[in-house]
Amino acid sequence: MILVTGASGLLGSHLCYHLLKEGKNVIGLKRKDSRLQNTKEIFSFYNEEKLFENIVWEEGDILDYFSLQEIMKKHAVTEIYHCAALVSFERKDEHNLFKINIEGTANMVNLAVDFNVGKFCHVSSIAALSQPDKNDVVTEKVVWKSSPMHTNYSISKYGAEREVWRGMEEGLNVVVVNPSLIIGPGCWNQSSGMLISNAKKGIKFYSPGGTGLVDVRDVVKVMISLMEKNIFGERFILNSENLWFKEILTLPQLEFGNKEPGIKISKFIFRLGYRAERIMCIFNGKKPRLAKEFVKSGFEKVDYSSKKIIDKLNFSFISVKQSFQWTCKFFPSDKR
Ligand SMILES: NC(=O)c1ccc[n+]([C@@H]2O[C@H](COP(=O)([O-])OP(=O)(O)OC[C@H]3O[C@@H](n4cnc5c(N)ncnc54)[C@H](OP(=O)(O)O)[C@@H]3O)[C@@H](O)[C@H]2O)c1
Repeated sequence: MILVTGASGLLGSHLCYHLLKEGKNVIGLKRKDSRLQNTKEIFSFYNEEKLFENIVWEEGDILDYFSLQEIMKKHAVTEIYHCAALVSFERKDEHNLFKINIEGTANMVNLAVDFNVGKFCHVSSIAALSQPDKNDVVTEKVVWKSSPMHTNYSISKYGAEREVWRGMEEGLNVVVVNPSLIIGPGCWNQSSGMLISNAKKGIKFYSPGGTGLVDVRDVVKVMISLMEKNIFGERFILNSENLWFKEILTLPQLEFGNKEPGIKISKFIFRLGYRAERIMCIFNGKKPRLAKEFVKSGFEKVDYSSKKIIDKLNFSFISVKQSFQWTCKFFPSDKR
């Protein structure tokens, strides 16, 4: 059987769907309070609500090794796809980021080693890659360098990858994928789903940086393919295109019939806006939309190369425009 962590999240839900579609047996790891409605909704986007019933849900927490052990004793797990993580750029999440992403991954790796799991696919991120010295395109070869510009999320994802490479040294067959910003429908209130929710509301401001984007279906396709082809001991950047933030906001906003963002903001204005929003949120009780850590990555344009995976699998990525078109059409009409 295949164990998928983070099965109630954006990527994990899409992955479960595609694995089940291929006839595989899937155990979805969920926490006590996980919202399985998210996963169910994602299956409905593929018109396959019934397939959702085929997920064998098991309760556990990647921070609780014993809960994981119980699952492994119950099922013959031959493969693990480790998607669970905390995706956050909030300063207040610093402790949980390191705990869930590093310690949680260490637990998953130890579990796989202890129970002789044959294959382990780890979902890392482009955030786990250092930027090269000059304006070079980032490849899998970049070496991590400490920098005050790294967000806590980046550092935690880098730490998680180190645990996975340690697992490889201990004999585990591991493959790592480093997706850029994942675009796909569902989980609208968390992770990259927030981009779509905010685009629906209409964002007027943009920062002068940029990053890479990739369709969730491509991420899933590559993960399954790497595992089926037994490609281990390597990492792969998964990125369709590198765009400016202005373009990244414009594409979904136009899909929703909103205007493109017209006001370019500086770091100084961002910091002011961040403070003003925090104060407003105290009064109106709303969730803040600006994350302070964004100032570290939102003002630079970093380009990522996915040549390695394209060559390895003869792969072609869905365009970002197509990805936004597909994603936005599922955004619930009653949501604002
Ligand atoms: N989204 C992106 O743009 C992006 C880009 C690059 C890489 N990634 C990576 O892709 C992976 C999936 O991201 P996503 O966008 O799907 O995130 P997501 O929608 O926020 O889902 C996170 C998943 O992790 C689970 N989880 C968190 N802490 C856990 C714990 N202690 N024990 C068990 N499960 C736990 C969550 O469970 P609950 O439902 O219980 O909260 C949820 O199922 C992550 O590793 C992320 O770093 C994401």
